[in-house]
Amino acid sequence: MTLDIVVLPGDGVGPEVTDEAVRVLDWFVAKRGVPLRMTRHLFGSASWTAQGTTMPDETWAAIMAADALLFGAVGSLDQKQIPAEERRKGSLLRMRKGLDVFANLRPVRAWPALAESSPFKARTVAGADLIFVRELTAGMYFGTPRGIETQADGTRRGVNTHTYTEAEIARVARFALGLARTRRNHLTSVDKANVMEAGALWREVVTAIHAAEFPDVTLEHMLADNCALQLGRAPTRFDVIVTDNLFGDLLSDCAGAINGSLGMLPSAALSAPDANGRRRALYEPIHGSAPDIAGKGIANPLGAILSAALLLRWTAQAPAEADRLEAAVEAALAGGARTADIALPGEPVLSTRAMADAVIAALDAAP
Ligand code: NAD
Ligand code: IPM
Ligand code: MN
Repeated sequence: MTLDIVVLPGDGVGPEVTDEAVRVLDWFVAKRGVPLRMTRHLFGSASWTAQGTTMPDETWAAIMAADALLFGAVGSLDQKQIPAEERRKGSLLRMRKGLDVFANLRPVRAWPALAESSPFKARTVAGADLIFVRELTAGMYFGTPRGIETQADGTRRGVNTHTYTEAEIARVARFALGLARTRRNHLTSVDKANVMEAGALWREVVTAIHAAEFPDVTLEHMLADNCALQLGRAPTRFDVIVTDNLFGDLLSDCAGAINGSLGMLPSAALSAPDANGRRRALYEPIHGSAPDIAGKGIANPLGAILSAALLLRWTAQAPAEADRLEAAVEAALAGGARTADIALPGEPVLSTRAMADAVIAALDAAP
């Protein structure tokens, strides 16, 4: 069965890095027989400019029917010209919610070749290999009431609500505990149970599911502020980290420093499996549209390419091909391939395209 992959390049560096991820996936279609059919669709600012809507009906229909999405990035200055209602229609949050992709995997490993690119000491990051399971469809991003309201005295107040139901916590906890079993059997659950009711409930539900269903996994609880510190101090102490939507956003960017650049980090957002065991999925690098470097052909495509590896692992269910791609990234880095964000002073720097070429050359060279 050919898998239908909807490609949404988006804004800024999104199209630059997504083109390279698609080129790498084309290699797997041509050389390894992975059955993917990729089609690009317009949405967001580009579609607003071309068609006066941020989400054409056919794009939304394609998103909802796809086996997976390969997403670049959103965020452009001209978005401010787009009416709020239209911005919401074409938003990444609407896609995440619409697909119900609640489990957001954000793996982070310290690539040995990049030890000196990290702002942390090589001995601190060496061997770090952790994965966030960020809850992606609830919490502060979606809680109600929300909005900007005018108060009795005429001044305004912005309102967002941090809310989690037991069911929302339970499903992401089960996912993370199950994932820990396939790795080093260790889960850190991160919350602010000391300050927030939603955090206290988070801790209670994770503890109960662990005790009832996953007692073989080692579980620790950690407050979110301490987790931010430990990610820099001792990243090797983590295996799987489960946390809410907002903390997961912040903490995964913190972990970006382990390799020295956000451009290295991929993600996969997954739904619950359907009756046939298939999950809906959205793959994207964790970085944004990077307006400071967009249009120059210098963005690091490895976060997008490693997101393609996650697609091979989770949607194509081809773990050997995913391993092959991750090994090719490692070989390209070991061979000295560097984009500007991960290069040391004086090291030769590759363009976005040339970095992807180095990965494809490593794929061609591998046995
Ligand atoms: P950003 O992730 O775009 O950039 C943060 C820093 O990392 C910048 O210095 C940038 O140059 C660098 N960087 C990011 N990707 C890189 C890459 N591939 N190669 C090399 N360097 C890279 O975050 P920001 O600047 O805070 O946000 C810019 C816009 O992107 C905003 O509109 C924001 O809302 C949006 N955003 C979108 C996503 C997404 O689409 N998933 C994620 C984060 C931010
Ligand atoms: C991310 C981004 C998004 C988020 C934005 C663009 C909505 O920062 O994927 O990490 O906050 O979830
Ligand atoms: Mn983010």
